[in-house]
Amino acid sequence: MRNLTQDNITQAVIARMADTPDPRLKEIMTSLVQHLHAFARDVKLTEEEWFQGISFLTRVGHITDDQRQEFILLSDTLGLSMLTVAMNNDKPAGCTEATVFGPFYVEDAPGFDLGEDVANGAAGVPCLVRGSVRGIDGEPVPGAEIHVWQADAEGKYDVQREDLQQRQARGVLHANGKGQYHFRSILAEAYPIPDDGPVGDMLKATRRHPWRPAHLHFMIKAPGYETLITHVFRNGDPYLDSDAVFGVRQSLVADWVKQSDGQYLVEYDFVLAPQKEER
Ligand code: BEZ
Ligand code: FE
Repeated sequence: MRNLTQDNITQAVIARMADTPDPRLKEIMTSLVQHLHAFARDVKLTEEEWFQGISFLTRVGHITDDQRQEFILLSDTLGLSMLTVAMNNDKPAGCTEATVFGPFYVEDAPGFDLGEDVANGAAGVPCLVRGSVRGIDGEPVPGAEIHVWQADAEGKYDVQREDLQQRQARGVLHANGKGQYHFRSILAEAYPIPDDGPVGDMLKATRRHPWRPAHLHFMIKAPGYETLITHVFRNGDPYLDSDAVFGVRQSLVADWVKQSDGQYLVEYDFVLAPQKEER
């Protein structure tokens, strides 16, 4: 295999991987090489542009650490995360749709009893959140484990605040015996995704804004049901049609209603999909 040309190098690379023992890895690597080469041919990639791409990915790597995952942000802003979610969460009609996980979930969120305030000191307009967790046949899911997390009034998650000693605006609750839940928190507000790194530069270069419409994150787990990872979005938000990470589903948009005492109320009923058979 000498003197390879632009016409036969793709096949040569694929042939070199012919002995890959894992058939799925072989399939993925073959397709990756095919599409990468097709992309380079399509745009007639110059050597200078190739190097720019390498420099960009190097910056993405350098800024990534335990607190900041720029590769996920890149995947999110290119729509790859939401495409993967959409392809892998084909649920029966009537089930609550899934959306992106995002980078701000933490495993050690505090537990709360129903009715408690998960804001835990985070700044924001008080808000009551309530609803139910049910299965596809309308059956309540008693004791469903509900993880919730959200940004504060300044659009920051607690993990983005270096000086904060406690967890804020996140928690784990359990639905009651009728599958109902309610808790206090703060009003969800729109916020920009971190745009002070290479992904932010990409957004600026392509004239894109970094904003996400106001939302609450939920992860809901219960035995016998698929884990649901989703958001509830705030109706009326100006960014609902231009979410920086393409995560909005109309079925996840709810009204935050201002009450006479100035607090907000949002109600959302979740429907879990039954656990798939083990294959
Ligand atoms: C979030 O909603 O927390 C989020 C999702 C994707 C990228 C950045 C933030
Ligand atoms: Fe978020």
